[in-house]
Amino acid sequence: MTGRIFSGVQPTHGLHLGNYLGAIRNWVTLQDEYDCIYCIVDLHALTQMQDPEAMRANTREVAAALLAAGIDPARSILFVQSNVQAHTELCWFFNCVTPMGWLNRMTQFKEKAGKNRENAPVGLFDYPVLQAADILAYKATHVPVGEDQKQHLELSRDIAGAFNRKFADGFFPLPEPLILGEATRVMSLRDGTKKMSKSDPSDMSRLNLTDGPDAIALKLQKAKSDSIDGLSLDAEQRPEATNLLTIYAALAERPVADVAAAHAGTQFSSFKRQLADLAVERLGAMAAEMRRLLADPGQIDAVLADGAERARAVTEPIMDEVRERIGFLTPRCG
Ligand code: TYM
Repeated sequence: MTGRIFSGVQPTHGLHLGNYLGAIRNWVTLQDEYDCIYCIVDLHALTQMQDPEAMRANTREVAAALLAAGIDPARSILFVQSNVQAHTELCWFFNCVTPMGWLNRMTQFKEKAGKNRENAPVGLFDYPVLQAADILAYKATHVPVGEDQKQHLELSRDIAGAFNRKFADGFFPLPEPLILGEATRVMSLRDGTKKMSKSDPSDMSRLNLTDGPDAIALKLQKAKSDSIDGLSLDAEQRPEATNLLTIYAALAERPVADVAAAHAGTQFSSFKRQLADLAVERLGAMAAEMRRLLADPGQIDAVLADGAERARAVTEPIMDEVRERIGFLTPRCG
């Protein structure tokens, strides 16, 4: 094992193709090389309120998606964030060494809060500090994410550095982002300049991992195109063509330049049909396995309970040492 991986995904709605190609598919392959810890970050999801039943259902659905994608709970720890107290505790410690100015620079907060900044919950502002706590409560060294998480990862490194300088030289590793594969930023099917996202009100903008063959074919058939003949890569002038070629390349596990060269003369409509066939072939088995797993929620809950116990066992000695270094009186001080 060359290091420890930590990564997380929010249980807000189901997962989409961007989550899969940008992150989860890499999580699966990294299990061969690293000690891996994967977390369903329900505390982060709480920054965008949903009703309690939806939270529970989405948490199980994300767990089923991760298991169906190939996360192996015998090798990796798979658990729910709110089941392990270290996350919120370490977040508070980090809150006390993180200047507000660092958080003011976070583009994701600005996007999500929009014009309504004064009414945005404090939790949304603090979101990246909790993310740093997630990673560092396990002293993780590598964090596989999509490109949109780069700035949050830089902040995690800064927070680790700030804590180390104040209390504990070299105690926390500076975690490295792993941004891997052809599709590190999958764009919306309705607008190639916007990221594919769970929060887009239009379900036609994304391929969900639960979509069946008909929904996949329809969404791709209706995906935005342009009026230029043939297909080519040009993120500025042809964002939709670039996005569909990138998705194809990632699903086919081929370099995107090769896919673009092979389809220079293909029309959008024909390419969309080929992409739909490929997507159904690559995603169909996963959707079926998710449905099978979701029919037995007790089994999912048992996997998550076991994961939480193993996660707690990793954090406990780390948190004991953090409390001691800060100067808190602990039972260990005697
Ligand atoms: P979330 O749930 O929004 O996204 C989960 C993962 O999916 C990636 N992703 C994408 N990749 C490519 N194209 C897209 N359109 C796309 N949309 C999402 C994200 O980059 C992410 O890797 N803040 C995290 C959750 C988190 C976390 C952590 C991650 C909480 N604590 C600790 C790593 C380490 C997030 O955005 O999740």
